[in-house]
Amino acid sequence: MRRLSTLRTSLIASLVLVFACAVFVSTAGAETKAEREARMKWWREARFGMFVHWGLYSGLAGTWKEKPVGTRGGMEWIQQRVRADTWEYAHEAVPHFRPTPGFAKEWAELAKEAGCRYVVFTTKHHDGFCLFDSEYTTYDAHDLVGRDLCKEITDAIRAEGLKVGYYHSVIDWHHPQYDYFKADQLPHPLKGKPSPNGARNHDIYVNYLHRQARELFSNYGRVDIIWWDYSKKGNDGPFWRSDELMAMARSLQPAIISNNRLYHIPHIEKDDSVDRLRTWKPEQGDFTTPEQTIPSTGIPGVDWEVCMTMNTTWGYSVHDEAWKSNETLIHNLVDIVSKGGNYLLNIGPKGDGSIPQESIDAMQAIGRWMATNGEAIHETTASPFEKPAWGRYTAEPGRIYAHVFDWPSDGKLTVPLKGKPVTKAYLLADASRKALKTQAGPSGVTIQVPSRAPDPIASVIAIEY
Ligand code: GLC
Repeated sequence: MRRLSTLRTSLIASLVLVFACAVFVSTAGAETKAEREARMKWWREARFGMFVHWGLYSGLAGTWKEKPVGTRGGMEWIQQRVRADTWEYAHEAVPHFRPTPGFAKEWAELAKEAGCRYVVFTTKHHDGFCLFDSEYTTYDAHDLVGRDLCKEITDAIRAEGLKVGYYHSVIDWHHPQYDYFKADQLPHPLKGKPSPNGARNHDIYVNYLHRQARELFSNYGRVDIIWWDYSKKGNDGPFWRSDELMAMARSLQPAIISNNRLYHIPHIEKDDSVDRLRTWKPEQGDFTTPEQTIPSTGIPGVDWEVCMTMNTTWGYSVHDEAWKSNETLIHNLVDIVSKGGNYLLNIGPKGDGSIPQESIDAMQAIGRWMATNGEAIHETTASPFEKPAWGRYTAEPGRIYAHVFDWPSDGKLTVPLKGKPVTKAYLLADASRKALKTQAGPSGVTIQVPSRAPDPIASVIAIEY
């Protein structure tokens, strides 16, 4: 009798539990449109963020055993480029990874100065080395340098009032159970060679991935963005138990915004096709991630963020001198925002955490431009007009910003604003905000501008209507 009633009670208890879980899962999945809009608001308004690739590879600086590995391409992949196992790689890299105290403050201050509203940094890249103090590995900063670098960086970013994003690689070249035979769509330095430690168990690695993600979502306060990297068809969503991973992320960080790379979405290819980017599904990440390429037009209804390097590598390389000009960097920012996207611009600090001078100079140049013109970037949306030959537009309710790259030689600029009387047009570079003369005509409003461009890179005219 007693046993029967215990059985009945536990049966009822399990049913209640199953029901509760079902309700939880269905409510967790069912975010309303308004809730999603509210969650995405700050990210859409931010428009500009700083990406940081920093890890063991940074100290190697693109050099392996005294020889340059190359002058172009991602040197955060150096372990893969030279096909080293973890032991050999760590043996070479560890002596060069010597973070100075206070490096993180410099990163965060630079991001703030440049006009970024968020910073995304590598908590673990493909090499598997963790900047956070993990209970599940000794291959982390705590065991190497006795510091929780993830905490230092997170705190520094927050102290500047910026949002915090964690890049986290699902690919792992260090974990002895990461099964590179199963993960055959993804890179691994030992590919083509037998596993030195015998058969690997992918499930053990995936558990490790989940446990470490739980540490990231639990130990550092609020995490605003999770930036996964990366899946490919065949080694995509279910391969990482992505739905479960994201349900855990959302339960610990309800407002978190995630990219699409935990699921298979075309993202790595230099693909400019809007149709392919449109294949994004909101349940597979909040935004899609064109890499090193700017879509030719915007993608209405889709949130997207272009990530880009300043030279050609994400991780620091002393050999890569292909630095983009300040003009290119600022034009890219304007171009992306004019199409409704975000710009995540990368820096690759050195092994001591210091930022290459070229990147400091570039970020400061962007910062000077943003100090004058930032209101035409932050909180704006895509241009309502076709892109003009002379530059780009961004928009705000009741206001258009004309970003002029090529200043008109005849002193006239026509904006196709029709049927909406312009109340005032002025240059953002003019502190007195003196009204420029305007005249309505059949092709829009024509603005009389001074003969010389206030900014040779991009001068912004605000047009209120
Ligand atoms: C790619 C690369 C990686 C880099 C990332 C940034 O996925 O594998 O090295 O971190 O893109 O977008």
